[in-house]
Amino acid sequence: MITLRGLTKRYGDKTAVRDLTLDIAPGRVTGFLGPNGAGKSTTMRMILGLDRPSAGEALVGGRPYGRLRHPLREVGALLDAKAVHPGRSARRHLLAMARSNGIAAGRVEEVLATVGLQAVAGKRAGSFSLGMGQRLGIAGALLGDPAVVMFDEPVNGLDPDGVLWVRRLMRSLAAEGRTVFVSSHLMSEMQLTADQLVVIGKGRLIADAPVAEVIAGSSRNAVRVRSPRSRELVARLEAEGAEVRRAGEDALMVAGLPMERVGLIAYQGGAPLLELSAVAASLEEAYMELTGASVEYAAPLPGAGTGAR
Ligand SMILES: Nc1ncnc2c1ncn2[C@@H]1O[C@H](COP(=O)(O)OP(=O)(O)O)[C@@H](O)[C@H]1O
Ligand SMILES: [Mg+2]
Repeated sequence: MITLRGLTKRYGDKTAVRDLTLDIAPGRVTGFLGPNGAGKSTTMRMILGLDRPSAGEALVGGRPYGRLRHPLREVGALLDAKAVHPGRSARRHLLAMARSNGIAAGRVEEVLATVGLQAVAGKRAGSFSLGMGQRLGIAGALLGDPAVVMFDEPVNGLDPDGVLWVRRLMRSLAAEGRTVFVSSHLMSEMQLTADQLVVIGKGRLIADAPVAEVIAGSSRNAVRVRSPRSRELVARLEAEGAEVRRAGEDALMVAGLPMERVGLIAYQGGAPLLELSAVAASLEEAYMELTGASVEYAAPLPGAGTGAR
């Protein structure tokens, strides 16, 4: 369990993280989403005691990081894959970490196997690709078999195999009952990986909810209908308050009414149905609606007219 209470960080007159209060629970993957500059890394650094909060507190298992006796055994983290001595081999890097935290040396071979770095464990970490560096960072995070793990943008720079591997690893760590807190700005990836989402923008909490709930809240959820009498159907649906968009010859996309209601309205109007299906919004769409007002450096979308957001 990670607990944030009024967590705030100011840099001069800039507030990077503002009054975050939430619990990050064990047994599930919590995705930490927000545009660049939203305050994700700052929040994670405060949880790890690398940055001192301006106000409030961050607790791991009920205690501030500085009060943990064997930190690596309680919380493992990958914040920066480059934070490794380049001249040290992967194995020696992990052995040094293990020694300083009273972790048995045998554990090093176990985590090297978990992340698939055994074959290159004797090579200098400085020669590693970004993906190998990420794996080494993850090995370090797992070294102490901690109940809480945190990863800051772990799939950045990984190839598709690596992305899939990280996703499975997060899922399995959560299935083991651990608290898994992982930041990303990649919505599609979080939709596949996370159970719970914490969304921040400009340092403020925007949402803390199950992924399914965030998606359900989007106005982009719709019902697709096909009928040879779609023209008449449009009028009937709009009269019931639906927002209707034409999606082809005889097809409509209907927002704002449940599918059952759309079917019933078609039946009552005598419109034969060729198709009636739910089209779920993507997390990306739901997210854009949530954060539209909090993007730090907004640029117009390519293809959108001037002034369009
Ligand atoms: N050491 C620092 N000094 C001054 N400003 C900082 C520092 N670290 C981060 N910031 C600012 O705090 C904000 C949040 O940054 P960060 O936590 O890195 O965001 P994210 O990880 O979500 O991209 C940004 O505006 C950033 O410029
Ligand atoms: Mg960051």
